[in-house]
Amino acid sequence: MDMDIGDRDTVFPESIDLRKIPAHIAIIMDGNGRWAAERGLPRHEGHRQGVETVRETVRNCNALGVEVLTLFAFSTENWQRPDWEVNYLMSLPEKYFESELPELVRKNVRVLMIGDRKKLPRRVLKVIDDGAAATNSNNGMILNFALNYGSRAEILHAVNRLVSEAAAGKQVSRVTEKKLSSYLYTGNLPDPDLLIRTSGEQRISNFLLWQLAYSELYFTGVYWPDFDKAELLKAVSVYQLRKRRFGKV
Ligand code: FPP
Repeated sequence: MDMDIGDRDTVFPESIDLRKIPAHIAIIMDGNGRWAAERGLPRHEGHRQGVETVRETVRNCNALGVEVLTLFAFSTENWQRPDWEVNYLMSLPEKYFESELPELVRKNVRVLMIGDRKKLPRRVLKVIDDGAAATNSNNGMILNFALNYGSRAEILHAVNRLVSEAAAGKQVSRVTEKKLSSYLYTGNLPDPDLLIRTSGEQRISNFLLWQLAYSELYFTGVYWPDFDKAELLKAVSVYQLRKRRFGKV
């Protein structure tokens, strides 16, 4: 059987309430290096396996009916890694889209990117832009890659745009939350309902600081390469037990 992305006959356990799926899941995919080290493998093997987990997670989220999946694939701090590792990480979008793009197109998934484009190699931008262009008219799940992403830089970028517009006389009224939100890289995307971080670290690490204000946080000790369908469903079922109050009683 062809296990395409988003097959609606995918079976989920009864413990999952398909009416209460988080609309936006954001993931800090951490622990690739430790996964490899524990197996006596070079670090890049962890990243290679991490791409497999990305493939499966995209399939599973789409089948669950998630509307936006944001994946933290490369942070503004990751440039400090050794050159070989930065180069390897930069080759991953190409590897992923080479095999997955036809399915993403067919399954109505739309590709977006958030982050600072300036420092990214041209070939990475090309592969992302080609993916975005090929899926531009899709209106199903949004697959949003955070690449060269840092949240403080994103907020500063938005504030500086507002300041420039004010200086040019375009912006006269007070800045609202809605206005500032719309100037972030995430634009008009909904805020994440659920943030998942793998590998046992319990930090936000400069990821979506503004957007995570009311998100449910889920931390697991499982390394990203081992974060399979069962682990995703566990995260979703924990989310479904949470009482979201948004500051109210
Ligand atoms: C953190 O683990 C992970 C990263 C810096 C890279 C994450 C990227 C992927 C999982 C693949 C991205 C896929 C696509 C398609 C772009 P780490 O290396 O910091 O692990 P460690 O903390 O155990 O060393």
